[in-house]
Amino acid sequence: MTAIQYIEENKDRFLNELLDLLKIPSVSANSKHQADMVAAAEFIKAKMEIAGVDHAEVCLTDGHPIVYGEKIIDPALPTILVYGHYDVQPADPLELWDSPPFEPVIKNEKIYARGACDDKGQLYMHLKAFEAMMATDSLPCNAKFMIEGEEEIGSNNLETFVINNHEKLACDVILISDTSIIDNDNPSICVGLRGLSYLEVEVTGPNRDLHSGVYGGAVVNPINELCQMIASLHDENGKITIPGFYDKVQQLTSEQREDLARAPFDIEHYKKDLDISDVNGEQGFSTNERTGIRPSLDVNGIWGGYIGEGAKTVLPSKAYAKISSRLVPDQDSDEITYMITNHLKSIAPDYLKVEVTPHHGGSAAAIPTDSKGYLAASSAFEEAWGKKPIPTRDGGSIPIVALFQKELGTDPILMGFGLDEDAIHSPNESYGLFNYFKGIETITHFYKFYSKK
Ligand code: BES
Ligand code: MN
Ligand code: MN
Repeated sequence: MTAIQYIEENKDRFLNELLDLLKIPSVSANSKHQADMVAAAEFIKAKMEIAGVDHAEVCLTDGHPIVYGEKIIDPALPTILVYGHYDVQPADPLELWDSPPFEPVIKNEKIYARGACDDKGQLYMHLKAFEAMMATDSLPCNAKFMIEGEEEIGSNNLETFVINNHEKLACDVILISDTSIIDNDNPSICVGLRGLSYLEVEVTGPNRDLHSGVYGGAVVNPINELCQMIASLHDENGKITIPGFYDKVQQLTSEQREDLARAPFDIEHYKKDLDISDVNGEQGFSTNERTGIRPSLDVNGIWGGYIGEGAKTVLPSKAYAKISSRLVPDQDSDEITYMITNHLKSIAPDYLKVEVTPHHGGSAAAIPTDSKGYLAASSAFEEAWGKKPIPTRDGGSIPIVALFQKELGTDPILMGFGLDEDAIHSPNESYGLFNYFKGIETITHFYKFYSKK
């Protein structure tokens, strides 16, 4: 039996196992899910062992555990290191889900659950591809697996783990499925990820909430001021106004831009999907460029004052916002966080106190398209999907990718199978059954092509 036949014969079980993993609410951001994090890690370790690794372990960290497993068939053969994350984003707002986020259901040929696509569905494809090769005696090279539980909160402890375990993680290529393709008719390979800088700002006006009639008009309102400060961060051309912000932005050549523009993109479908009448952003760049090769800055949340039922006439003492910036090569996350912090403090009027707290961040990454790994991924897609994949740059971030490049000297191959419609991080996250099974197949082809002499 071939690995592909084995996948076909075991489809139902492959799906049911994933559903079991999706039932574990492994939300890394929320400390009440501590036990669920351990349960998800143990689940993955057990499945690695059943699939046939020589050795698997749950490695404790200062945060959530990392699951590591390996199968070394011959040290002379190449080694593929698979990375994935078993943690998921919080499922809120719960009321917007059509079915509970941790009770997976199959509907319209899709699995609906938090983590279905990001990243449990995608990481699990790797365990099943490995199992299929082991069971059919067709694993052509060595395999290592490193599945973490802190990707959605910045991978801080994974960073330490990677720095301290160069030898254990030694490999020829890193394979990651945690990105998306253009659509099921246009497979693609992600060759760029944006970086991230994230901070929280607290502005304080008067020392207590005030009656907005007694004081309104005479005392600074921190919400009004914070809104103005935030509004001034973009100019009328959609450019970010923070001094120095664009200094290190890598400019692409016109050839590189033309290459990227070859990727099919249906703007009408894009607008319709989001129910917006038009797109907008930095002038002089297309939508794909705005998310792929240009930095951005967004408020993720803003609050303060009274937001309960009815009206309360209050002039608030404090206002808050969470602000993030997506970065491109060669912007430095810490440097940008520092720039935004200073800028916010400098534009605030004297009668307002501003405090800024930095959160996790990470560097952008660009992946070359002429490596052995990229070419193997391209051939794997061609064989499984009947079409040569297109290189694309995604707007999301996987901060550990740049760290892998720096620490292990290896370019990860971002062979993801998600779709925009999978609604990752949103209510009703889903993952197509087609993508799940096709992904497992594509991964086995990757092993084959990568191991070819
Ligand atoms: N898998 C995503 C990143 C992603 C999604 C890349 C789609 C390309 C296409 C990842 O789990 C993620 O959500 N990353 C976070 C960064 C993290 C530091 C919180 C992000 O991009 O917000
Ligand atoms: Mn992810
Ligand atoms: Mn995510």
